Amino acid sequence: MKITIIGAGNVGSSCASLLAQKDIVQKIILLDVKEKFSEGKSLDISQMLPIIGSNTKVIGITNDYSKSKNSEIIVITCGIPRKPGMNRDDLVQINANIIRSVTKKSIIFSPKAKFIIVSNPLDIMAYVSYITADIDSSRVIGMSGILDSTRYRYFLSKKLKLSPNDIQSLLLGGHGDTMVPLYRYTSISGIPIQEFISEEDNNIIIEKTKKGGEEIVNLLGTSAWMAPSASVVKMIESILKDSKRIFSCSAFLKGEYNLKNIYLGVPVILGKNGVEKIIELQLNKKEKNLLIQSANHIEKMIKKFK
Ligand code: NAI
Ligand code: 2OP
Repeated sequence: MKITIIGAGNVGSSCASLLAQKDIVQKIILLDVKEKFSEGKSLDISQMLPIIGSNTKVIGITNDYSKSKNSEIIVITCGIPRKPGMNRDDLVQINANIIRSVTKKSIIFSPKAKFIIVSNPLDIMAYVSYITADIDSSRVIGMSGILDSTRYRYFLSKKLKLSPNDIQSLLLGGHGDTMVPLYRYTSISGIPIQEFISEEDNNIIIEKTKKGGEEIVNLLGTSAWMAPSASVVKMIESILKDSKRIFSCSAFLKGEYNLKNIYLGVPVILGKNGVEKIIELQLNKKEKNLLIQSANHIEKMIKKFK
């Protein structure tokens, strides 16, 4: 089993490291455009693995896509992250060109691969990769909701003074600022959230979650990578093990939620074929309106950059 990660920066190398530690794939190709960079990162990860006891081989490659041949999954993490003062949408033009180019090169060598897109602005980059790869949309999936919901679980657990592990939550919509919280679908060990916190107080946590990425950018000068890479590894595991887990991911909509021709965060079943089902929830009027606003924002961005 072979996985290729394109972009050996913060997210890509951390993804390679976390995945290798799990010892569930034979080979990880870590590919970057920057000369010697992925080779150095891979060597460091490889020298860690005997301590962990993992047999995964991690191989660093500069720009030679033939080495990614027959990958089961291609993870795209390359491009520019935002700096303080920028929002994700500021990255659209430069990252779209990069995503188009790396998708084109990788699909040639791995025509059956599933693609997990990480680069920002996420929902637009997933769309660009899907259009470029020209494959079934079930095989191109954006990573967003696992990260946004884990941030929400973290902030809520701090407020309620209980374990984030017991919080189950679902978010819809675009990654970050336009995400749509689903208060009605949140529970703690099966107990409805209403028993713990009012919708009004929960909204304060949601606002904090929306700004969760920005908070880290302001602290670090670049965007987060540990929680994002753990989110990607969760998706890889569900696909490789065909576990059919339900996660919020950015998926291509063909009429679900009355939306078409757009990538947007929705609950999906992730299995060996990628997105095996998009789960359609019965939204109330308020939730529907928020989802439409989120979709309008993404559509506007796509039109602008087209
Ligand atoms: P980074 O700057 O640490 O790494 C990016 C890497 O991409 C660099 O090593 C660079 O050399 C490489 N690269 C650039 N052009 C390339 C090309 N044409 N081919 C191959 N490699 C190329 O950035 P970081 O922090 O790893 O973030 C990467 C992307 O992921 C950013 O767009 C960021 O906004 C996004 N991101 C998305 C998240 C999400 O929730 N979807 C979470 C975290 C980051
Ligand atoms: C985040 O939310 C950068 O989109 C990334 O941390």
